Amino acid sequence: MMQKVDILKLSSQDTELLKACSVLDRLCLPSEAWSFESFRAETEKPSGIVLAAVNQDSVLTGFLTASCIIDTADLTNIAVSPACRRQGIAGMLLQALFSECGQADIFLEVRESNQNAIALYQKYQFRQVGIRKNFYHNPEENAILMQYGGNSLC
Ligand SMILES: CC(C)(COP(=O)(O)OP(=O)(O)OC[C@H]1O[C@@H](n2cnc3c(N)ncnc32)[C@H](O)[C@@H]1OP(=O)(O)O)[C@@H](O)C(=O)NCCC(=O)NCCS
Repeated sequence: MMQKVDILKLSSQDTELLKACSVLDRLCLPSEAWSFESFRAETEKPSGIVLAAVNQDSVLTGFLTASCIIDTADLTNIAVSPACRRQGIAGMLLQALFSECGQADIFLEVRESNQNAIALYQKYQFRQVGIRKNFYHNPEENAILMQYGGNSLC
């Protein structure tokens, strides 16, 4: 069932939501998951962005992390609760990031087997601009480098 969600930019004071981000991260991407402290540290950096999708019961349904410096941003992670997928929540998080970052070019890496995420990024006009060989471990895998906006690196 579709649910209404709000997108919030978290601060270091949002302890419960930051803890919920780390729990969701462990569930979705166990081999690369960030701890609560890593999420909190991100909110404390001037360049750090942690966006949370929260439903009407104040429950976290998704999050996005990024780092934005002047005209370049790195989208470091995005995840949506399995029960809430295909409802446009990741799309809402990406659109909130576009608003946060203004005209910045946005880069990301994604496992080449992660077709769901690649389809998401393509829908929102990211395009492949490179491959990083054996970028990931557990299991070892190439990363597809994608970019939103600006001119291609190659
Ligand atoms: C990838 C992920 C964040 C997508 O979240 P979501 O909220 O379900 O995505 P949305 O509903 O906003 O989907 C937007 C578009 O992405 C694509 N997409 C998302 N999930 C898809 C799937 N399972 N199969 C095919 N396309 C998919 C579609 O184009 C979709 O548009 P449509 O529903 O109109 O067809 C979610 O599946 C997830 O948390 N995966 C595990 C974590 C992960 O892999 N993160 C990426 C790390 S790089």
